[in-house]
Amino acid sequence: MTDRSYIPYNEETIVAELVKGGVNSLIATHQINQQRLWDTLMKLGEIGAGSNVTEEGVTRLSLSLEDLKGRQYVIDVMKESGLEVRVDSVGNIIGKLEGANPDAPVVMTGSHVDTVLQGGLFDGALGVLGAVEAIRSIKESGIELTHSIEVVSFTDEEGTRFGTGYIGSKGMSGYLDEKTFQLKDANGITYGEAFEQAGFDPSLYKQAIRQSKDLKAYVELHIEQGKVLEEHELAVGIVTDIQGPVWLEVTLTGHPDHAGATPMNMRKDASLAMAEVMLEVERLATKYQGVGTVGKVKVEPGGVNIIPGKVAFSVDLRHVDKELRTSMVNEVTNAITSISTKRSVKAEVDIKKAVDPATCSSEIVDVIEASCLELSVPTMKLQCGAGHDSLMMTNITNMGMIFVRSKDGISHNPKEWTEKDDCVVGTRVLLNTLVKLAK
Ligand code: GLV
Ligand code: MN
Ligand code: MN
Repeated sequence: MTDRSYIPYNEETIVAELVKGGVNSLIATHQINQQRLWDTLMKLGEIGAGSNVTEEGVTRLSLSLEDLKGRQYVIDVMKESGLEVRVDSVGNIIGKLEGANPDAPVVMTGSHVDTVLQGGLFDGALGVLGAVEAIRSIKESGIELTHSIEVVSFTDEEGTRFGTGYIGSKGMSGYLDEKTFQLKDANGITYGEAFEQAGFDPSLYKQAIRQSKDLKAYVELHIEQGKVLEEHELAVGIVTDIQGPVWLEVTLTGHPDHAGATPMNMRKDASLAMAEVMLEVERLATKYQGVGTVGKVKVEPGGVNIIPGKVAFSVDLRHVDKELRTSMVNEVTNAITSISTKRSVKAEVDIKKAVDPATCSSEIVDVIEASCLELSVPTMKLQCGAGHDSLMMTNITNMGMIFVRSKDGISHNPKEWTEKDDCVVGTRVLLNTLVKLAK
């Protein structure tokens, strides 16, 4: 694991980098249109926003009407920016700036525009619209690149609607399987049906696969969603490792009985078993120095005077170390078994998502660091707690991430906020990084 250590901000190195790159090329490469970036972020944020965005947030669940509108907005902005736009067979929107050598491996960047329930304006959106702004600026500055650059807006990163996620990046990296299309949302609509309603044929999902030889790198710009950069008073950070999430769906079946007439020692209360499991999740996540969350709970039949007969709940477990995460997941599943046996309830555990933690490419970390130095942007290296499409893209190419400061570390929340200046600095670092990788 990499330490969370500062890169010393060193005037001499910056001057050296400046001279090496040439002042003119630096001036040409690091400009973006700040207001245009901000306007597109705010405009996308209007799609799926409640009447008061800072209270109700933005909801664009994957392939919902709001998400489809958001996706159309991204296509429009890409086209307006002069990018060649296509949508692949799993719905990834891809905008391309052709390089001088069409056979050279592509430099990719992007993120997602679907959101969680009542999410914010920046999670995913900054990585897509920041990348579009960066490439638009490269095009406008007339900078010539050897490699093509592609901006991707990945389908369903969040996984809120169907309980999984990273669908577009799984599709692109060859990790999507047919079973995914049978998953159902809360209204009983299958993923396959949602795909068809959005105009995609689920049977063609393999056509989205990209080969490693055709890719040079994937770089994702994203808000931090934590407090580390804010604590260090830095606008931008460089990610070294990303935690890998495991999502379990647990169903515990006991017996629904009368809440007044059934003595305490004669109950099979599924809720009480769940409560014990929740505390075990907390204890084990703390013990392993990972994180564990029970965020979604359904209690049936759900009456004030009925003993809960059945519960279904999610468990999200994450760690940067794969082996420790495996042990943590095993201990949680063992606890589910022993608690349900003790309480005479039946337990079923379904793994909805299991993505390995990832280490960012050291070459890309170096390129991002050099870009920060060139732009006189002080920075630090840090680990990433949230999941991203980069976790899947690392399977097929060199991957790196640029983080931008989140106000109060808040995210997946209507109060999620990143200052305009920070979005601008992050986008400039992305632009410079892309130019270095694609030149
Ligand atoms: C997505 O943001 C996740 O980390 O679950
Ligand atoms: Mn995100
Ligand atoms: Mn998110």
